[in-house]
Amino acid sequence: TQRVFSGVQPTGNLHLGNYLGAIVNFVKLQETHNCIYCVVDLHAITVPVTVWGGPDELRRNTREVTAAFIAAGIDPNKHIIFNQSQVAEHAELAWVFNCVARLGWLNRMTQFKEKAGKDRENASIGLYDYPVLMASDILVYRATHVPVGEDQKQHLELTRDIAQKFNNDFAESIAAQGLGDSYFPMPEPVITGPATRVMSLRDGTKKMSKSDPSDYSRINLTDDADAIAQKIRKAKTDPEPLPSEEKGLETRPEADNLVGIYAALAGKPKTDVLAEFGGAQFSAFKSSLVDLAVEKLSPIAGEMKRLSADHGYVDSVLASGSDRARVIAAETMVGVKDIMGMVRKR
Ligand code: TYM
Repeated sequence: TQRVFSGVQPTGNLHLGNYLGAIVNFVKLQETHNCIYCVVDLHAITVPVTVWGGPDELRRNTREVTAAFIAAGIDPNKHIIFNQSQVAEHAELAWVFNCVARLGWLNRMTQFKEKAGKDRENASIGLYDYPVLMASDILVYRATHVPVGEDQKQHLELTRDIAQKFNNDFAESIAAQGLGDSYFPMPEPVITGPATRVMSLRDGTKKMSKSDPSDYSRINLTDDADAIAQKIRKAKTDPEPLPSEEKGLETRPEADNLVGIYAALAGKPKTDVLAEFGGAQFSAFKSSLVDLAVEKLSPIAGEMKRLSADHGYVDSVLASGSDRARVIAAETMVGVKDIMGMVRKR
């Protein structure tokens, strides 16, 4: 059976990249799959507390991401929305996977290198271990499909390596337990659509990110219509009119990015957008983009604001989601313990 899992960190400034690269696909997949969407609070705390903001911020951001999921159209009754720390099995499986994953594999992770920066001695062990916890998130549900943005591809490859090594190392025991010839599936990344890597509005070579000091670099999901309009009008472009074909965008990262954003918001391929706007000046294209962005994003911002203030409702969604998630996760852990020879109560 197929199961979808994905996660978003509660670190503030949810932006258009998170929405178009990931959340839009979360919403689509719920039509065809059983889905589990997680607010990964244990991942958020891997950066210094001065960066993740402390307890009040974590609570606020956890509720805000939950509100964003619901406002974007994920149905918490049909699917599971929960926060990671309420299901202890994520951390439990991460320990087992710490003993499966190799130092050499983690040393190759580019996101750790970027996030740790020059002062690597001062990075938390959790930041280094981040991808192992991520593998546990996915595999504790034996998920088969993982919708993410382009930047998570390497972490998904590591997840597959961990699953494969576990299956190989314990192949005999898996068979002896009557669990077939492998225990964990090889989860597939789902990286689709015209905006799998949304770039900064100020610099088309940098990814749009929560941590960019310039608020003009990104459109936040909580931005109102005025903020959206201002940021798009100020977005960096080049002097040429838009091309009518994709190959005209190859050396124009800012133009390419805006066309990708338009296409993703409109739900059509980039080629259609170029066919429509080829030859147009940026001023004209940008005003269409403002209209489209405001039309698609304002209702989400409004609903997010309303929901994230309703702590009673949001917290009950997380509690109910966690209860349902825990049942699946606990079942996976029973198998893991039996496979590895950890004696347990029967
Ligand atoms: P996070 O919170 O950093 O990002 C959430 C999702 O948004 C995508 N994304 C982007 N997509 C396109 N363009 C961008 N500029 C952009 N920036 C972010 C990310 O790829 C991600 O899909 N490590 C994960 C969280 C996680 C997770 C998991 C994901 C923890 N456990 C298990 C899947 C499965 C992350 O980057 O979160």
